[in-house]
This record gives sequence, C-alpha cells and structure tokens, in this order.
Amino acid sequence: MPIPENIIDQIQNRTDIVEVISRYIPLQKAGRNYKAPCPFHNEKTPSFIVSPDKQIYHCFGCGAGGNAFSFVMKHENLEFPEVVEMLAEKAGVKLPHLTSEKKELTSLANQLYKINELAVSFFQESLARSAAAKDYLASRGIAEETIKKLRIGYAPDGWEGILNFFQKKNVHGSFVEKAGLAISNEKGGYYDRFRKRPIFPILDLKNRVLGFGGRVLDSSLPKYMNSPETYVYSKGRNLYGLNFTRDFIKKQGYALIVEGYLDFIIPYQAGVTNIVATLGTALTVDQVKLLKRFANTVIMVYDPDEAGEAASLRNMDLFLGEGVNVYIAELPKGFDPDGYIRKFGADDFIKLTKSSKNLFDYKLSKLSSRFDIRTGHGKAAIAGEMLPTISRIENAVLRSNLIKKLAEKLSVDEESIRTELKKVKPDYTMRVYTVSTVEAKKDSKSAEKMILALLFEGGNFIQEVRGKLSLEEFKDSSIRDIVKLVLDISKEGKAITPVKLINYLENNDAAAILISEAVNLSETLSNKEKVLSDCIAKIKKDNTKDRLERLQDAIKAAHNSNDDGLVTRLVTEYMELLKGSSV
Ligand code: GTP
Ligand code: MN
Repeated sequence: MPIPENIIDQIQNRTDIVEVISRYIPLQKAGRNYKAPCPFHNEKTPSFIVSPDKQIYHCFGCGAGGNAFSFVMKHENLEFPEVVEMLAEKAGVKLPHLTSEKKELTSLANQLYKINELAVSFFQESLARSAAAKDYLASRGIAEETIKKLRIGYAPDGWEGILNFFQKKNVHGSFVEKAGLAISNEKGGYYDRFRKRPIFPILDLKNRVLGFGGRVLDSSLPKYMNSPETYVYSKGRNLYGLNFTRDFIKKQGYALIVEGYLDFIIPYQAGVTNIVATLGTALTVDQVKLLKRFANTVIMVYDPDEAGEAASLRNMDLFLGEGVNVYIAELPKGFDPDGYIRKFGADDFIKLTKSSKNLFDYKLSKLSSRFDIRTGHGKAAIAGEMLPTISRIENAVLRSNLIKKLAEKLSVDEESIRTELKKVKPDYTMRVYTVSTVEAKKDSKSAEKMILALLFEGGNFIQEVRGKLSLEEFKDSSIRDIVKLVLDISKEGKAITPVKLINYLENNDAAAILISEAVNLSETLSNKEKVLSDCIAKIKKDNTKDRLERLQDAIKAAHNSNDDGLVTRLVTEYMELLKGSSV
C-alpha cells in the first residue's frame, strides 16, 4: 500500500463525507441521511443517498457507491493517492514523503498493468509459433498489419502455458489470477484461463492493457471468453477500440457502435475509423459518458434480430438521458458488420449507416409493427414504451415535437400523451433496485455479494462464514479479496467498518461499489441467518457443479490421450464428488 493505513485512517476520521460531497453538489436532509439527484447519471428524482453514520454514499439508480475518497476520485477523475493528498490537506494530516516511483511499484493496479503487458508479449510470441492460429486469423480476413496494431495474439493449448511463462519471471500464480489470466483450482494451484484461443487485448485510453478476449478456433462453445472483472478491468466501463478511434470519432462528430471484436476489427481495417464495440453486453451509463467525451451523436449498428428487441431499445434511452443523439442502423438479415463489409465493402457500409433512423422514429416503427395500432391496448402498449424515451429528452422544444408526432401516429390527442408523460419515472430507479435484490437469489455472484453484506453484521456471521466456506469457494475475485480482508481484520480483533474497508482496498472503484452495495443490501434483508445459510449452500452447490464440469473435461482429455490410469482416477473422483453432492 503506497500510503500507510494509519495515515489514511487519520484522514478518514477527520473527514466528513457530507461536507465533502456538498462541496460538489447540494445535499438535502432526508431523515438520518442526505439525498440528491445522482451526479453520476442523469435523473430527476434523487436516488443518491449519503449516510453520515456510515460515511458512505450509494446511488440506487446507477449503483455508484463508496466513501468520501471514492466520491472525489470519481467526481474529479483522480487517482487514489491524489485524492488522499487533497483530503489530507483539508483534514490537516501530514503525509509521509513518497517518491513517485515507489508509489507506482506498490500499487496493485500498476502491477496488473505490467502483468497484462507481459501477457500480450507472451500471446504474440505464441501466435508467431502457431500456424493454426495464424491461419484462422487470415481466414477471418485480418491482415498482418492489423494483428500488429491491435496487438492480437494467441493463447496456446494446455493448462499452464502462461503460468510457466510468469513463473520464469517470478510472478506468482495468485497475481496471474488477479489479472484474470489464471483460475485457481481446488488444490490451491492455478491453470490458464485462456487456452487455444486467438486473443484480443482490451486497452484503455492510455493504451494500458486492461484485459483480454479470446475466441475459439472452431465452432465449440463458449465462443468467446473474456477477462473477469479485475482491479483494472470492468467490462461495463470500457469500449473496445476506443483508444484507436477516439480522434477519428471526435473529428467526424459521431461514433458507430457495434457489438463484437470482429465487428470492430474488420470495419476498422477497411477504413471505418470512427467505430467502437461494446463486446456483446448491454450498454452502461459509464460507457455512454466515456463516449460522450468524443462525440455527441452515435449510430448503433445492429443485426436486425437484436435491433428491434424492447430491452435493447430501452437501453438506448441511456444516451438520451446524457443528451446524446442516437440513430439506429439495421443491417440486412443474416449480416453483422464484419460479414457486411466483407461482402459489400466499406463504402456501402458507411452509406447504410448514413441512412439510419433516429431512435424515436425507429422505435415507433418497430412498435407499430409489433402491436395493433388501431386498438386501445395496442396504443397503450406503444405509448408505454415511447413515453420513457420522450421523458429523457431535456429540450422542451424537441420534447413537444415528439409528443406531437406520437399523438399523430396513435391518433390520440396530445393532451392525453402529456398526462401519461407526467406519470413516467424516467430514471427507472425502483426497477433497478428491485431487480438487484431479486437477482440476489439467482446467481452465485449475488450469493457471494449477499455474504459480503452479512459479514458486516459482525460476530456470529463472521464465524459462520469462516467455518463453512473457504476463500477458494468465492468465484468473484474482487469479493474474495474483500472477504479475505474482513476475515483477516476480524482475526486481529479489530472492528470492521465498511468505510475503512474501502480505504484498505486502496479505493478500488469496483471494490467501493461492491461494499456500498453490500451495506445497502444488508439493510433490506430480514431473517439474516436463513439468508446466510441459503447463500452458503448456493455457493457450495455451484462450485461442485463447476468441479464436475472440469473433471468431465479432464476425463475427455485423458481419454483422448489414451491415459487409462488417469481416466480411472478421474472417474473415481467424479463419482465420489457426485455422491456427496445434491447437484
Ligand atoms: P464471430 O464473428 O463469430 O467471431 O463473433 P462476433 O464478433 O460476430 O460475435 P457475436 O455477434 O456472436 O457476439 C458479439 C460479441 O459478444 C462478441 O464479440 C463477444 O464480445 C461477445 N460474445 C459472443 N459470444 C460470447 C460468449 O460465448 N461468451 C462471452 N463471454 N461473450 C460472448
Ligand atoms: Mn460475427
């Protein structure tokens, strides 16, 4: 840790989050807490809550959260040490002198960047040695020059390629895992995450390597594998390729948004230089904000199946909320941008994107073909989808114009549209909130998050988790790191508060969000003992399932290499595991 913990604690103790945040935005008292419209996403009804008791903030709308340090980091776009310096001065705490070199060496983020950078060189060298991978990339029409520029590589077949590479460089497996490049096994060892896949590095605007995506060489599944969330990589915060195309996007004044690696690479190579990719996940506010720094207009390039989907259209409202103009370009059936360019060329592709419809018109025409516009129910359904979109438009003239258009289309009077519009909550606050608690029951990541929440209850809960779960059983490495820290601190008999925990984790943004989320989650739970035992059971069950799958793969591999002894041993292990589980 670059700055000693006790110094950070001192600053923390002398800093009041309410005072810090109110330097940036006006806060309003609401019971024991304070609230405000969230500064990190566009909303009219406040869902941003600051708790003076816990010294934590959290937004129920967009999920942002953390302590005073995290807030300033996010709001001012500063690194942790910079914020520490700033708040130390205000709090009257003197910082020990640190050279910038030492700061760099000690920060986990920088270590991960270095590991990732080395990994790129490893993948590039493996590509040079693999004819199969080179052939594959050539068959997809990716030129040598593009491979070099995008730093494309190859993860060789086998379980310990990159691990051995790092071992020779004295980088421990646990760090390779923290970078998302290795996965830990049940015996305390590690294996390569990416195997037998061409690798596409994901870079940030400073050209630092954040993470990787890898595609299979054939038609096996999963087709793509991406880095998990790590200290430096969060999939909802980055856009693939933006580091290469930001200047072009700025110059052209608009960006094309596509979904896949290849859908970025092939057009980019063909001269479509104002393009970025979301990598197949739903767009986030962070991505919109990132893009907005370079252009105020975007064209979403979709294949037709996905384009009309209500959920993805609703997602587009995010842009409107940030004041970004959205157009939708629909490709002919069966084409994605990669396929389209390869068949018709870049000029046709650009022409097609230029004839795109704006979101409002596009959505309205899609809805009109989905619902019967002549019936009352049809009209109501269409209005129900269109109104949240309209309500996101801040400009009164534009808004009024859209209301008129919608009223004409539905053959109803404008007044009724205006009345309905008043009922719309544009920021989906409640929806986001309920979804996250419902989801908690669904996947094991949420079970892990829930456990984190319950650890803040202290005493028995901590004992229970310590006794029943080992750290390896946590799949999410960020949650695992936090749980480990909580268990370590409690062993020393020190009190744990969420706010200090965030600082111990160097105010890593993902960690701060997880912790503030957990704090709020725990407040919504009743019968906490039961929730805890359910979550523990859920995690155990998921892990057994994973192990069974991994054993199955290993059995297949052993079978293929005719290692009968190994097959027998693995099958026995498989049966034992199956017997003892309820999977
Ligand atoms: P190909 O052209 O077949 O290489 O793929 P694509 O780039 O056209 O991908 P597709 O349209 O199938 O998916 C778009 C993007 O979603 C991909 O580039 C990936 O980022 C992501 N994606 C697709 N399949 C998977 C998957 O199985 N797992 C994960 N994690 N991501 C995927
Ligand atoms: Mn494709």
